[in-house]
Amino acid sequence: MKEEISIDEFDGKKFKIRFVEEEDNRKAVITHYLHNYHNGVKKHYEKEAIEYLNQIVRYKNEEEELNYVSDVALQQLLFEVENVPFPTPENYTFKFIDLFAGIGGFRLALQNLGGKCVFTSEWDEYAKKTYRANFGETPFGDITKESTKSFIPDNFNVLCGGFPCQPFSNAGLKKGFEDTRGTLFFDVADIINRKKENGNPIDIIFLENVKGLKNHDKGKTLKTIVKTLNTLGYEVKTETLNSRNFGIPQNRERIFIVAWLKNKNKDFNFPLGINEKEEIIYKKEDLINIKTTKVRDILIKNPEEKYTISDKLYAGHIRRRKEHKEKGNGFGFSSVNENSQYTSTISARYYKDGSEILIEQKDLNPRKLTPREAANLQGYPSKYIIPVSDNQAYKQFGNSVSVPVIQAVFNEIKKQLL
Ligand SMILES: C[S@@+](CC[C@H](N)C(=O)[O-])C[C@H]1O[C@@H](n2cnc3c(N)ncnc32)[C@H](O)[C@@H]1O
Repeated sequence: MKEEISIDEFDGKKFKIRFVEEEDNRKAVITHYLHNYHNGVKKHYEKEAIEYLNQIVRYKNEEEELNYVSDVALQQLLFEVENVPFPTPENYTFKFIDLFAGIGGFRLALQNLGGKCVFTSEWDEYAKKTYRANFGETPFGDITKESTKSFIPDNFNVLCGGFPCQPFSNAGLKKGFEDTRGTLFFDVADIINRKKENGNPIDIIFLENVKGLKNHDKGKTLKTIVKTLNTLGYEVKTETLNSRNFGIPQNRERIFIVAWLKNKNKDFNFPLGINEKEEIIYKKEDLINIKTTKVRDILIKNPEEKYTISDKLYAGHIRRRKEHKEKGNGFGFSSVNENSQYTSTISARYYKDGSEILIEQKDLNPRKLTPREAANLQGYPSKYIIPVSDNQAYKQFGNSVSVPVIQAVFNEIKKQLL
């Protein structure tokens, strides 16, 4: 007789059929509840979580002719969500929410600095799987839905997220955040506004985006974002930072937006990292263990043969490189070796042909990065679990933030603003 109960049972086909709901938040509710079991935030998820727990216990008892009690189930599920590589720090000093969470790049960095995540949202099923394997929590789904937003608790300090960049249709910059309606930034602004209106304003907003946001729609997109945050009562600073200046051998430029409540008599400066000669661009004491790196630092020993690209693919890359060169538009593909200072940017499309980053090999065609190397290239620790296919893993790490950059910026936020 099976006596184990697991979060995965909420995915069981028969169980799902019995309780069809438009938006199934059950796994998110239960895991958020369990994760906050030892602190006050638990109350926020309690009513629904207990209801779902009783549902699954009743279902298990009927299906498997058991006589299982909810308390035992609760203990087993608690063990499951806490027994992960990156549990919540025990003595946390601030709380945050993780929006557009992907695979938790923000979460890793903020947890490392003593933060507790109290809510997370991400709608991609594969990213959710990776997230739960590492943090024990299943993110809520579509952040534009009221059924998701209603679960965001009050009283947290930081909202973070890398939202997809979209143009704003009305660039009149007159109506404040109403101008952003219909975009995902609107939902970020809406959450900030709701917390302000109900008397629990969020201290800090920490956003990341592609460098292109700066010139997107002739600069109007970024301007609208900054203006909106100002209207909501925040001071704002933005900066483009490159991962290669933060101990990562990757040329990855991203824009960072930091906003904090006005009238707090506080100011904020970004860390700028170090350059390749280990010359410090920013004050040394403000750097957290950043050292210069080379591509060799992220490579693994003896990668499987399957990562070496085929003759056909390689010939295609070489042909396209020649065509690009003739047209004078770039190199087509980018290969590096272990002594190279850095790779080009890994993007979500890396899984397609790997042309952005190929590793040269002696007497062989070049090879793609392995998923573990892609993780290393974004600063994920070796104990980070990759529970998905190679293609999904490339997409996830390509979409992710570079963890050490987030950590260096948040280290400053924490010192200067929190
Ligand atoms: C650029 S990625 C962010 C990656 C993340 N910062 C990380 O470190 O992995 C943007 C994420 O937003 C998610 N997303 C887009 N629209 C969403 C929505 N309406 N609700 C929830 N998640 C959404 C995408 O699935 C994607 O994973």
